[in-house]
Amino acid sequence: MKPRVLRYESLPSTNTEVARLAAEGAEEGLAVVADEQTAGRGRLQRAWSSPKGAGLYFSILLKPKFATNRWPLITFVAALATGDALFEASNVQTDIKWPNDLLANERKICGILAEAIETPSGRAVVLGIGINLTNEAFPAELTNVATSVANESGRAAEREAILAALLQALARWYSLLQERDGAEKIVAAWSSRSSYATGKLVQITNGDETLRGHTRGIENDGALRLETAQGMQLIRAGDVTSVRPARMNA
Ligand code: BTN
Repeated sequence: MKPRVLRYESLPSTNTEVARLAAEGAEEGLAVVADEQTAGRGRLQRAWSSPKGAGLYFSILLKPKFATNRWPLITFVAALATGDALFEASNVQTDIKWPNDLLANERKICGILAEAIETPSGRAVVLGIGINLTNEAFPAELTNVATSVANESGRAAEREAILAALLQALARWYSLLQERDGAEKIVAAWSSRSSYATGKLVQITNGDETLRGHTRGIENDGALRLETAQGMQLIRAGDVTSVRPARMNA
């Protein structure tokens, strides 16, 4: 996969633009970056706030040749690559919250949205990554749950350096995913960087359903194993929050 980057001042959504270019026959590796998004999208039909210059708004077209049961691991590849890029370019250490939020000091610094699309050459994936560069990237009321590269590093975020490191890291991790035992290697690397992978007491909401339990590792297709009072469950979608155990003398 050889990334080729197109830059825009403003777009509704970089994911939508990559999907449009894919429908016109764009090749794998076509990437789009915008200074701002006017209709940025997040997971679960949420909006992604994308003010001018406050974030890195990035999407790339992937045309995986491997089996579709491995496709959920593309978001794992994105989390690993973004973690590398933030550390290499800005010295920011991150944790990964299942399925694919990057956290710094327990607050969200990056979101990932992978969308499957149809193209003239078959099914493909638009992989979107939004990194908060400054605290202006998100509404003030989210300050207790969101953070930014500038906030964590104590200096101005260098968007171009982060983008360059991200492109290299994406190519590296995506190439690993394509190896025969790539799924196992990606899941192992992801798990070693996630405090949520195992032994964490969490609450998971998916629509009207709420589950509580301890995380017990990741399946090779990216599903989260959750040990609940009713037994072991495999979670494939939902929002995870960490639960602090009640103190006995509280
Ligand atoms: C999430 O909900 O955490 C995922 C957020 C993904 C945001 C990025 S910004 C670049 C790309 N374009 C979009 O419209 N969304 C993704």
